Amino acid sequence: MRPGSSVGGARPKAVIRHREADWIAKFPDREDQVDVAAIEHASLQLAGLCGITVAASELIALPGQHVLLVRRFDRDAGQRIHFASARTLLIADGLREGDMGYADLADVLRREARAPQADCQQLFRRMIFNVLLENTDDHEKNHALLFQQGHWNLSPAFDLQPQLLGVGYQSLRLGKQGAQSLLSNALSDCGRFMLKSAEANDIVDDVLAQVRQWEQVFARYGVSNADIDACRSFILRPSVMGR
Ligand SMILES: Nc1ncnc2c1ncn2[C@@H]1O[C@H](COP(=O)(O)OP(=O)(O)OP(=O)(O)O)[C@@H](O)[C@H]1O
Ligand SMILES: [Mg+2]
Repeated sequence: MRPGSSVGGARPKAVIRHREADWIAKFPDREDQVDVAAIEHASLQLAGLCGITVAASELIALPGQHVLLVRRFDRDAGQRIHFASARTLLIADGLREGDMGYADLADVLRREARAPQADCQQLFRRMIFNVLLENTDDHEKNHALLFQQGHWNLSPAFDLQPQLLGVGYQSLRLGKQGAQSLLSNALSDCGRFMLKSAEANDIVDDVLAQVRQWEQVFARYGVSNADIDACRSFILRPSVMGR
């Protein structure tokens, strides 16, 4: 239970072997007000229902606490798959930290990915999900790319959960209104994601239909009633819904 520090990020974690694969174990923090492991696990499952490709996760129950296991996607049968954060590739593109947006990452994918259209649409879907879930910790190190067969492709999604802060803006810019957490803002630059307005709106409808079931999904994947109550005023906040 003593945390290691090999993979970075803010929370205590360790790399472990499990089911013949490498997994990242994310431990609870003494400061936590809610069961972060269960909420993150449920959020990853919900994202999967929304058509988002996510890292595999498992919730492990230890006496009095949950630990989240997330399977590493930068290893394949012990072989390394080359990984770079969005931050790294955006800095290489000449962007400055603090001035990065989802559409800038879409520009990288358009140029570098094996399937640019699919990856751009997938990134757009993740942006919409993060707005609806109040995952405002969607910064440039919480998106990554994997180098495979000569291309930089979008990695599976990871580190998704409502932040329960209600700050009202995302960590990356969404569109014409900067980082403001608003569907209309997220839709405003859809062309850079290779999407027509009608297609972008269809993706919003699709993600919205799934996120509306969040309470059942959270309950199914181990989030307590008290923690569901704690999430209620943050997920699908009325202030983000305007289009
Ligand atoms: N499934 C995975 N496979 C490979 N690398 C991963 C995976 N999940 C996370 N990582 C890497 O480990 C880092 C830390 O993981 P994660 O973002 O989940 O932790 P965190 O402590 O919640 O982060 P934050 O500091 O954003 O709150 C990520 O930024 C990413 O580089
Ligand atoms: Mg992170």
